[in-house]
Amino acid sequence: MGETRTLRPASGPFQAGVNVPGDKSLSHRALVFAALADDGSEITGLAPGRDVLATLAALERLGLRRSGDRFTPIGMPTNPDIPIDCGNSGTTMRLFAGALAYLPFRLTLTGDESLSSRPMGRLVDPLAALGVDITLTADGTAPLTTGAANLHGADVEIDVASAQVRSAFELAAIRSDGPSTIDGPGGFRDHTERWLAAFGLAESDGTRTRIVPGAVPGAQYALPGDPSSAAYVWASAALVPGARVVTPRVNLNPGRLGFLGILESMGAEVQGEVTGSIHGDPIGTVSVTGAHLRSVEVSGDTVAAAIDELPLVGVLGAYAEGITIVRDAAELKVKESDRTQSITAMIRSLGGGAEATEDGFEVLGTGFLDSGTIDAAGDHRIAMAGAVAATAAQGAVTIAGASVAGVSWPSFYETLEAVWSSQ
Ligand code: S3P
Repeated sequence: MGETRTLRPASGPFQAGVNVPGDKSLSHRALVFAALADDGSEITGLAPGRDVLATLAALERLGLRRSGDRFTPIGMPTNPDIPIDCGNSGTTMRLFAGALAYLPFRLTLTGDESLSSRPMGRLVDPLAALGVDITLTADGTAPLTTGAANLHGADVEIDVASAQVRSAFELAAIRSDGPSTIDGPGGFRDHTERWLAAFGLAESDGTRTRIVPGAVPGAQYALPGDPSSAAYVWASAALVPGARVVTPRVNLNPGRLGFLGILESMGAEVQGEVTGSIHGDPIGTVSVTGAHLRSVEVSGDTVAAAIDELPLVGVLGAYAEGITIVRDAAELKVKESDRTQSITAMIRSLGGGAEATEDGFEVLGTGFLDSGTIDAAGDHRIAMAGAVAATAAQGAVTIAGASVAGVSWPSFYETLEAVWSSQ
């Protein structure tokens, strides 16, 4: 799937400032909040990739109107009577399952081959407690139906640190007839909780969030850059001693910062400064300077706070000294690909030593990777991690299926090559 792309290694310790694309998690949420609002909203800095376009196109089909940066809410739409396509985007499908449950008709949500194999069963119990009747295939996958719910308040506890499940519950709960609470394991990105709190609809005490039903106001969303995209240029700098990248105005939600802590543990120099916030979610500048890296062990709550960046931990582990171990990360198996397999296969394709384990992976740090061809496995984060592996490889790295990077960052390869050539 997708064309191939060949990257030649960077020639030396590059120095670059990079404006990364808008935050994908916040973009989905800003569109959903704007769609549900009781008045118009303004959104700038939307993420450019196909995932966010899937959310936008689906909400437009339900009646969201866009004029430049201005968005008019969907109000009470008519039944589109056709399935809503969520593409490759798990966030779209899971957020919609709860956020659109209040609609007075049943909606069918579908996705591409990868999304159609990902687990949706985790939504069923929390949403059923609120009165949402979700249907799935016998395997617990999409097509998923939601809607026509008679929503009532409920208290639930979930066993997965999933921001998507929490958000689905919370966005349904604001339309119910009484307060609700949700609690579960920590480490998740609490964007939805912070925005709902800013609008007076939620309060959190640690991992426990109480939702009070009410209207979402129209609002302004000047979205910051995506730390999960910035992570690719941070990682590229981290593995070249003396290279440095600075990324201004990225989202600094604590549930997104696990990877920066990992970079520090591996020996890279990390500096961060909070410069503002968006409805309670911090924004700031991050700089990363490369070093000779040492191995790291990642487990526990750090896994959720670095979940989308774990492919990069694999790449950095190969360039580090020692054995890098990621555990408590069985969730990797149900991302856009089985990432325990796709990460380790990528590293082996470049001559490194890596093995998938029951709940993560292990990488033998040899300090270098060879030239070679990697398979993106239909997964944007594997394609982009393969490009980062090229930074200091012994020769060119070819990525088969490279265009999948457009799911989150369409101009990624050009940006990375420009970073490598800036001094
Ligand atoms: C996301 C939450 C995470 C993350 C995904 C985006 C979100 O998934 O992996 O890329 O925007 O809420 P889970 O909630 O399933 O952990």
